[in-house]
Formats: sequence, structure tokens, C-alpha cells
Amino acid sequence: MIIKIRNNFRQQKHLVPGADGKMHLVVSPAPKLRFAPRTAQQAAAAAAPAVPTAQVQQTRVMRKVSRDTPPNIPFLRFESIVGRGGMAVVWRAWHREFNRPVAVKVLDAKFAATGQDVRQFMMEVRTMSNLHHQGIVQGYGADFADGRYYFIMDYVDGYTFGSLLNRKTHIPEIDVLIVGESVADAMKYAWDVFGVVHCDLKPENIMVDRDGTIKVTDLGLCQSTAAIQNKEQPDEVVGTPAYISPEQIYGDVDLDCRADIYCLGASLYHMATGRMLFPLADNDAILRAHVSEKIQAPDPRFVVPTLSEGFARLVSNMCVKDRDLRYQTWDEVFNDARAVEEGGLPTLHAPEAVSSIQVQ
Ligand SMILES: Nc1ncnc2c1ncn2[C@@H]1O[C@H](COP(=O)(O)OP(=O)(O)O)[C@@H](O)[C@H]1O
Ligand SMILES: [Mg+2]
Repeated sequence: MIIKIRNNFRQQKHLVPGADGKMHLVVSPAPKLRFAPRTAQQAAAAAAPAVPTAQVQQTRVMRKVSRDTPPNIPFLRFESIVGRGGMAVVWRAWHREFNRPVAVKVLDAKFAATGQDVRQFMMEVRTMSNLHHQGIVQGYGADFADGRYYFIMDYVDGYTFGSLLNRKTHIPEIDVLIVGESVADAMKYAWDVFGVVHCDLKPENIMVDRDGTIKVTDLGLCQSTAAIQNKEQPDEVVGTPAYISPEQIYGDVDLDCRADIYCLGASLYHMATGRMLFPLADNDAILRAHVSEKIQAPDPRFVVPTLSEGFARLVSNMCVKDRDLRYQTWDEVFNDARAVEEGGLPTLHAPEAVSSIQVQ
């Protein structure tokens, strides 16, 4: 499926499903003038399909290793698969030196063939290893072994809110507010201290530990302001359609904490109602709904009438399409979530992002 998202003079944007199962926004460059090849050799080279060297290597490696076979790493005893994503498999393993269980994220061999995937994987590892916060899963560096890249992180003995939503219709407001506060506190640290934007906050990437600690995981799409500086508009933008912010859809390069605030707002809405902001049939329609000022999700109280007015206003403030009118800092989100938890109302009066008109 190829969908044109936005046209401008120089670029065309198309949404294409990627090998990792996520939608990629591909920006086609402006058409270039083509010159007729001058020599017979050049003509033959131009006519031949580009030799996908990486792909050839990739096929060779893939035949040897299935993603469900762990790499052979002497100090790790792989026990079971705990998560399977588009590009990697997460294992629970026993670390013989740490003498405790760890989670090991192993990048599929086929993605080790492309520099961009490895660079992003290393960015994820570096970020998870540099951030030290109880609300973010701790990483311990990466390595390459047995033909695959992997990294080690603390094992979270618990579950994701995505898996919880598969079992329950929705989650009680008080629990959702605690998730909101915990994630806001963790992401405030990541943003204020390191300039990190997660870019893929969603129920599947928020876990709860055995003792009830909320932990953000999967910084696989994260960006940092250091890398954003001097960055050109990306060739492709990756995200999860259900929770992605409008500015990510537009391929903006200067993402900041407000993009994550939108993703978290969409996640809290889903958790409290059991319904996504825009539960539409196809990804194109979902992305259009995120960016269109004319399309609003219903007030969450239409879905779950027991939700408070404060909660409805909080998620509405978080999901304002224009980021300049949304919450501007994680502190504001945290303080307003706290106020709602205590029975009050948010202080921010952003234009309503949820519709108070009930659609039958
Ligand atoms: N540190 C961890 N401890 C336990 N389970 C984890 C941990 N990290 C990830 N998982 C599980 O693995 C799944 C996939 O991991 P994630 O990092 O989100 O990969 P992907 O980028 O493929 O989505 C998560 O949804 C979660 O169920
Ligand atoms: Mg994930």
C-alpha cells in the first residue's frame, strides 16, 4: 500500500509498510535530470538492476540463523523469548557474571546488513545505557556475536500495558494517571538532561515491574537533540500509526518532548477507554485523522462514563494537534496529572482536542 501523505514543491511523501511491520514515511526526492549513458559499459550498468550486495549477504546469513535461535554467547544462558518485534527478538537470559536474569534484545541478522539499522540500534543501546532512571529500563551496552548485534538490559519481571489491554477492556483511571505521572517523570529526565525524545511511546512499550514500578522500554526510534541539530528532513519517518504525533507524520526534524507528550496522551486515552484515538480501518485514515484539525476523537467519557472531567481534559490537552497549544513541558503534564488524581482539574486550557459532540 502506498499512500501520499503530503506534497510540496520539492518532495513527495508516501507511506509504505516496512519489513519491520511499522509504517515508513518515505520522502521521494525531487526528480533528477537523467543523462543518456555515454559508453556501452555505462549503458549496460544503467540497464542492470542495482546489485544489492547487502541483500546477498543478508540472505546468506539468514539461511544460517533463524531469529528464534539465540546467538551463542558464553556468559549468557538464553531461557525464553519474552517479546518479538519487527526487527528484533527480546530474550530472558541468565547472566553468569551478574548472576541474575537479564533481557537481551537481539537484532535480526537481516537488519545487521544495513548501516542505518545498526546505527539506530546502537543509538538505542547508547541511550538506554546512559539514562539512569528507575522509570526507564536500564541498558548495559551492546556487542556483536555469532553474526548478530545484541544488547543487554535489566529484565523487567512483569508485563506491558499492551498485553494488559488484550486481557481487559480498559484500565481504571487512577492506574492510568499513575502511568501518566511515572512516564512523565521518566521522560522529563530523558528530555531535560539528555535531550532525548522517545518517538514511540505506546502501551506495548510501557511495562510494569513485579513491585508496581512503571518502566519505559524500547528506545528503538529515539532521537536526541544533539543528533537533530544540522539534520536534514529525513528520508523516512517511522512510528506506530495509532499513537504517532502530527509533527512526526509531517517528518519534522526538530522534534521535542511535545511529540512524546502527544504519544503518551494517545496511549493514556487507549488505556482508559480500551479504544484508540482513531480506531480506523487503515493506516492512511489513522494518519490523516492525527493531522486533520477537523477530525476529533470522542470525549473519553462517551466511551467510559465513569472517567472524570479532569482526566478527559488532561488527555485532550496532551493530544492537541498543534504542538504550540499542547502542554509544553513534562512538568506541566506531571502536575496536571497529579491535580486530576487528587480530584481537581488541569490548569492548562488548551483548545479541545476531543469532541464533546457524541457521535452515534
Ligand atoms: N527489559 C525487558 N524485560 C522484559 N521484557 C521486555 C524487556 N524489554 C522488552 N521486553 C518485551 O519485549 C517486547 C519487545 O521489546 P521492544 O524493545 O519493545 O522491541 P521492538 O522494538 O521490537 O518493539 C516488549 O513489548 C516487551 O514485551
Ligand atoms: Mg516495542
